Amino acid sequence: MIHDHGVHAVILPHANSRYPRELNKDTLPFSDDLPRLHLPRHVAIVMDGNGRWALRRKLPRTAGHRAGIKSARAVVEESVRQGIQALTLFAFSSENWRRPKSEVDLLMDLFMGTLCSEVNRLAENGVRLRIIGEHAAFPEKLRRRIAAVEKVTSTNQAILLQVAANYGGRWDIVQAARRLVADARAGCIVPEDVDEGVFSTHLSSPDLPDPDLFIRTGGEQRISNFLLWQSAYSELYFSDLMWPDFNALAYREALADFAGRQRRFGLTSDQTGCGVANGAG
Ligand code: FPP
Repeated sequence: MIHDHGVHAVILPHANSRYPRELNKDTLPFSDDLPRLHLPRHVAIVMDGNGRWALRRKLPRTAGHRAGIKSARAVVEESVRQGIQALTLFAFSSENWRRPKSEVDLLMDLFMGTLCSEVNRLAENGVRLRIIGEHAAFPEKLRRRIAAVEKVTSTNQAILLQVAANYGGRWDIVQAARRLVADARAGCIVPEDVDEGVFSTHLSSPDLPDPDLFIRTGGEQRISNFLLWQSAYSELYFSDLMWPDFNALAYREALADFAGRQRRFGLTSDQTGCGVANGAG
């Protein structure tokens, strides 16, 4: 388990990347001239603004969700290219069930369809997929599909892509507490043993560093019950772009912004030994 909060540096482009430099590097915030950069190990994204993107174009909201798939693909590919270890995308919150049935059905279909259509692409590009959230609420067919895609991609190593579906940060904390209580009942743990480290191993993604960078698109500045425990020290980045407009370049701008931040985790800048830039994590 990686739980130090250091920020790692990588060489660009990622050594195992299969992606060509499709963007004009002169226009990008990162370039090959800058060999070592401070990148997040784990990025979490609230993909907001699909509905508004569609309504502005006089399209049904569902068209925004379909368009959002393209942005998700671009961000996954760019993450692989940059050597980011983990990416968590918020696809469907525990609260999204309250949307009109037609929209919920479309989101489920999109989810199912994407799991089917993207599996080869994920495997080819070394993406390991994990779905976090309460699976029990999903139709049986979708649950089986999730298990199959997780299995097929389980040995891939370029990046761990977590898709949060029927996920809520409070749900995650509650299910961790339940599992701890069950462990205690079974005599595997005593209350004195429960500390932050032990607690976090009962959360949905115990083997990942907490997100270093938390991005939300769509112009709102809220956490919206996403990775509440895990984002305690995340750097927050809010983009006014609607999710379907958030492309690889916009993502690189967010990464460049992160690279310029100083992370102190409660310490002073003297203690962390870094100046203005995000050097010591
Ligand atoms: C929020 O926009 C977005 C969602 C609830 C769904 C996100 C889903 C996708 C991008 C497609 C599926 C992705 C994967 C990885 C399978 P909103 O509807 O709240 O937009 P609004 O705030 O403009 O109404």
